[in-house]
Formats: sequence, structure tokens, C-alpha cells
Amino acid sequence: MTILFYSETDDPEPWRQAFAEQLPDIGFRVWPDIGDVRAVRYALVWKPKAGLLATLPSLRAILALGAGVDPIIEDASWSRSVPLVRLVDAGLAQQMSEYALYGVLHFHLRMDRYAQQQADGKWNQLPPVLAKDRTVGVAGLGVLGGDCAAKLASQGFRVIGWSRRARSLPGIETFEGEAGWPAFLRHTEILVNFLPLTAETRGLLDRNAFAQLPRGACIINIARGPHVNEADLIAALDSGHLGGALLDVFRTEPLPADHLFWHHPKVIVTPHVAAQTVAELAVSQVIDNIRRIERGESPLGLVDPHRGY
Ligand code: NAP
Ligand code: GLV
Repeated sequence: MTILFYSETDDPEPWRQAFAEQLPDIGFRVWPDIGDVRAVRYALVWKPKAGLLATLPSLRAILALGAGVDPIIEDASWSRSVPLVRLVDAGLAQQMSEYALYGVLHFHLRMDRYAQQQADGKWNQLPPVLAKDRTVGVAGLGVLGGDCAAKLASQGFRVIGWSRRARSLPGIETFEGEAGWPAFLRHTEILVNFLPLTAETRGLLDRNAFAQLPRGACIINIARGPHVNEADLIAALDSGHLGGALLDVFRTEPLPADHLFWHHPKVIVTPHVAAQTVAELAVSQVIDNIRRIERGESPLGLVDPHRGY
């Protein structure tokens, strides 16, 4: 039995070492050195090459090297009968919350405005806004969004959240479903996106959504690029309706060299680093899931293929 590792961005060595120590009976193969395709029981993957999964006839599960599984869901060659398992926190929540907190503080404290003032050599004190009077809207209240919402609330912000089903989180006003989206947007001054990319959430952050946000609202997108209509975002920033955007994810990654975001004065770009999978923190969850599956138990983080997350 073997496990096949495929990622163009993750180093396989710490994974190989942990598997050798903790599951020595399973061979560890790194793509393209697949060996006998019939022996591959598990695929440990990040953005697998289209069609790769269909070449593995004995797969018992696909184990994603991240929390988001949209590239696998979108791969027509994934047979829905093979369970798909994602990472549940595994070290990602702390990083995502740190990134979101940085972004919220950046816009809350008007660091964007002060950077511009410094460039213009201007000394101009803006009146303070207290955290309790600043509403941060967290879209997606799952493992990562829920952690961030709680941390922002503990910093004194007024936090509201939006999810598919009704959620109850201490100290956080929640909205749900399509019906709750307009009210959630109407109150949100800084929007942090934690949604998974699904058929329902693709393109959700478009001109209609931006128009419902209060004037001057800012966007932090740390979920997936295709949530955002990029042309609509640029138009909303240029018109002055939106105050700024901190973007970690994009429709095309790496972000093309000629993309307007690179030099837009109201946009900060980071290269999909809000939370990176660290083998040291994630390997025990993956190994535990393999053990569960081998015992006939359900793994942690089993994805519902119909829901898409
Ligand atoms: P999760 O636990 O599955 O949570 C997803 C949340 O989104 C849930 O609250 C869910 O609602 C909500 N949701 C899904 N579809 C919705 C819809 N149509 N309308 C309203 N709410 C909806 O996922 P997670 O572990 O927090 O991860 C979230 C995402 O973060 C990942 O999918 C990935 O794309 C992204 N991510 C990005 C980075 C990065 O470096 N930029 C790193 C890690 C993860 P319910 O509560 O009702 O189910
Ligand atoms: C990273 O983007 C992840 O989904 O874990």
C-alpha cells in the first residue's frame, strides 16, 4: 500500500519523514514517482494536476493539504465515491486570524490614510473611532472564520457574522442564508471573507454586494479569488465607495504581472500566504485520519461533495 504526495508548493520531506516514523507499513511516493498505480491507497494533495486522481484505481481517500478543496471538487476526474478529506484547522486558524487581525487593524486605524498623508508630507489628525463602534463582518463562520470572529470580538470590535445555516456564537450577531446577506452587508464596515469556494459563493462579492456596504467600507479577502468580481472591485474602489482592499487570493494565481491590483493605491496584495500548511502542525491529523479510515471510521474533515465544502 502506498500514499502519493502531490504538491507544487509544499515540501514533501517532513511528510515523508513523519510517515516513515508513524506509518512505516505505508510506502510514501512523491509525484511523478508513482510506482504501481494500483498500490496507491491515499492521495495527499494540493491542487492536483487535472485528471491525476482518475489514474489511481485503488484510492481509498483523497487527503487535501489545505482547508479549501475547490480545485479537487472542480476536477471532473474525481470520482465522488472516493471520500475527500480536508484539513480542519491543523495550524491554519491561528495564522488566518493573525492575518485578518492585521488587516482589520490596518483599516480600523486608518493606516492606509496615514501612509498616503506621509507620502504627501501632510500632518493631519483624523478623529479616533473606538473598536466598539467599528463593525467587522466575518463571512463564513466555520473553523477559521469562527476562530477569527471570536478573536476580533475579544479585541473589542463589534463583530457580526454570516453563514449558510443559523449559528450561535457568544457576543456575535449572526445572519444566515441569502435572506441574511443584505442586512449583514448593510452593517459591515470591514468585511473579512472566510467562505469556501462553491457554486453558491462564486462571484458573491460583486457590484451588488459592494453597493450594499456602507460608503468607505474595506474588504479583506483571504478565502478564494473567484469570490470576488475583480473588475467590480476596482470600480467600487475607484468611485470612492470602497475605502480599501487587502487581498491574499486572486482569480489567477500567481497574480499576472499586468494586473491592475499590483499598483492600485487602495489595494494591498499578498501572494496567498494568509495561512500556509505547516507539516509539523498538520501531519498528525492526516495520519490520524488514515488510521480512522483503515479502522472503518469516518475521518475528521470529510467533505460533503454536494454542498461543496
Ligand atoms: P468551514 O469550516 O467549512 O467553514 C465554512 C463556513 O462558510 C461555514 O460557516 C459555512 O456555513 C459558510 N458557508 C459555506 N457556504 C455558504 C453559503 N452559501 N452562504 C453562507 N455561508 C456559507 O471552512 P474553513 O476551514 O473555515 O475554511 C474556509 C476557507 O478558507 C477555505 O475553504 C479556504 O478557501 C480558505 N482558506 C484560505 C487560506 C489562505 O491562505 N488564504 C488558508 C486556509 C483556508 P455553515 O456554518 O452554515 O456550514
Ligand atoms: C489554503 O488556501 C487552504 O485552503 O488551506
